[in-house]
Amino acid sequence: MNASVNPPDKLDDEWIARREDLRHRPARSDRRSLTHLLDPRQFDREFLDEMCDLTTDIRTLAKTREGLNALRSLLSHKRAMLYFTQPSTRTFLSFNNACHILGIRTSEIRDSSTSSEVKGESIEDSIRTFSSYVDVIIMRTAEKGLAQRAAQLLDTTPRPLPIINAGSGKDQHPTQALLDIYTLERSFSDSGGIDGKTIGMMGDLARGRTVRSLCYLMKNYRDVKLVFVAPHAFGMEPDIKQHLADHEIPFRETTELDAVLGDLDAIYVTRMQSEHDIDGESALVDLSRYSIGPEQLEKIKPSGVVMHPLPRGPELHPDVDNDPRAKYWRQERNGMWMRAAVLTKVFGAEREFYELCR
Ligand code: NCD
Repeated sequence: MNASVNPPDKLDDEWIARREDLRHRPARSDRRSLTHLLDPRQFDREFLDEMCDLTTDIRTLAKTREGLNALRSLLSHKRAMLYFTQPSTRTFLSFNNACHILGIRTSEIRDSSTSSEVKGESIEDSIRTFSSYVDVIIMRTAEKGLAQRAAQLLDTTPRPLPIINAGSGKDQHPTQALLDIYTLERSFSDSGGIDGKTIGMMGDLARGRTVRSLCYLMKNYRDVKLVFVAPHAFGMEPDIKQHLADHEIPFRETTELDAVLGDLDAIYVTRMQSEHDIDGESALVDLSRYSIGPEQLEKIKPSGVVMHPLPRGPELHPDVDNDPRAKYWRQERNGMWMRAAVLTKVFGAEREFYELCR
């Protein structure tokens, strides 16, 4: 694997140095295994740092054609089930493409009306059925806790394969939180990473699972402060605030974006989750007060970071897209690399990956 034999495309100095480092890095055997990926509370700092490194290492190898070809052999003996019965563009496509990058074959169900669930098959029997055909189940469902139940169920069967939670109702989105951490760490790579930063979260914090999961990860970083910007009716839920209090993570809540914008190192913008409305309640909110556009950009620090899990609504103006502080398109792409790292980790293939890099 000599870069001079196959000239790499678009390799700048950072990637060239990283590729060289990967070639010579001694194999580590002290890395921990990951059985299921269900809830962000299962991650500690060591794990998060390891996942961020692995993500960048996979991206590095994938920068060249020969690297991509090598990656495609890493898990070519594995099959994945993408069970996505809730709408998804990014999470689905990024997992699907992460699988393909690693050579994993995929099957999918994207609508339970096309599966035997319409014939009355229980979700337990459906999950067990998937496990007959594949080696990992990646699932997005409207029901909170379903991924946990699936994992517990499979752990009692002769085929206890890994379950990855790709979004569970209004509750959690752990792989999004991983890619958000990766994006924040990289965005702050010249200023000490996430430690010591003030991070704002704005929008529908009550029903947005991305911010709930990201909050759970904050205990792993030193001196982080959180600022929640939301209308009263959609503020952060008490369970998350209790978690932050238990871990002595300072947070404050406000309805006034303008008053806090200049204090923030990052603003994580989210949309109204109106699909969860019972009685049209999101239409009652004046969203223009909770949005980022050119006017707000002027108040954001020059080193500030604007993130959004996407899809966006009126809370994030397209005119922000070309500002260097807008990180959401990068964030979206980071999701594919982080999910490739998740799959590598779940299959315990890190050592083989680092061997491919030599
Ligand atoms: C998020 C989700 O599904 O929770 N989207 C995503 O996975 N990128 C955010 C959202 O839908 O608002």
